Amino acid sequence: MKRTEVIQRILDKKKAPAYLEIGMGTGKNFFKIKARQKAAVDPHFKFPAKRKLAWLFRNPWNLFAKYYEMTSDDFFAQIKGSFKFDVVFIDGLHSHGQTLKDVENALTVLKEGGVIVMHDCNPSNEAAAQPASNYDHAASLNLPGWTGQWSGDVWKTICLLRSTRKDLRIFVLNCDHGLGIITRGTPENPLNLSKEEIEGMSYETLSRDREKILNLKDERYLFKFLDTI
Ligand SMILES: C[S@@+](CC[C@H](N)C(=O)[O-])C[C@H]1O[C@@H](n2cnc3c(N)ncnc32)[C@H](O)[C@@H]1O
Repeated sequence: MKRTEVIQRILDKKKAPAYLEIGMGTGKNFFKIKARQKAAVDPHFKFPAKRKLAWLFRNPWNLFAKYYEMTSDDFFAQIKGSFKFDVVFIDGLHSHGQTLKDVENALTVLKEGGVIVMHDCNPSNEAAAQPASNYDHAASLNLPGWTGQWSGDVWKTICLLRSTRKDLRIFVLNCDHGLGIITRGTPENPLNLSKEEIEGMSYETLSRDREKILNLKDERYLFKFLDTI
């Protein structure tokens, strides 16, 4: 299952849903999403005006979409919690530090019963999991096994939240590079790792024990989850 389907199925459970995407890129996912309110954030949007126009006809929900050309930090500082969202999709800078900030900020704009979906939580190889300052940096390292897919160390954010947040239910769907699902609620099988332990963890540790570290679930678990929201 791809991220677009997972996000849309969650939104479809909500009345007049509001959707926020951090890191819109070319709009491959954003333009397809059907939601009453849509907002996209990216410091550099990567689509021509023509594509935006074409998508108005293909998906009229794009008519009222709002676009914020700025970093996620600037966006959250600017809106100061004045809008609330049912689903926040985090897919901006794929670093542990930034995704942790993005989750913390997303929680401040999440409606009751809202869901955070975070991309790239389950990197499939060491090259994809390489910590780097951005995509170009990761690509420039010419690592063995590099396929062009960069997930960075987003997985460590899942580890940290599963170790420290007693108020969040977190699991990762095993599809589309790992879709982290975060809601307010009781944690399932929490971890007990310190910040330092997590920072020192290698890709090999993740790869040995993904199920436990990420609370990894088969993609069909989404349907059970949907019955609870
Ligand atoms: C993998 S792409 C997004 C893909 C898109 N979400 C999709 O599903 O098709 C990551 C995007 O994050 C953006 N980005 C990088 N740093 C960011 C930041 N600090 N805040 C928000 N977006 C950022 C990049 O410019 C890039 O367009």
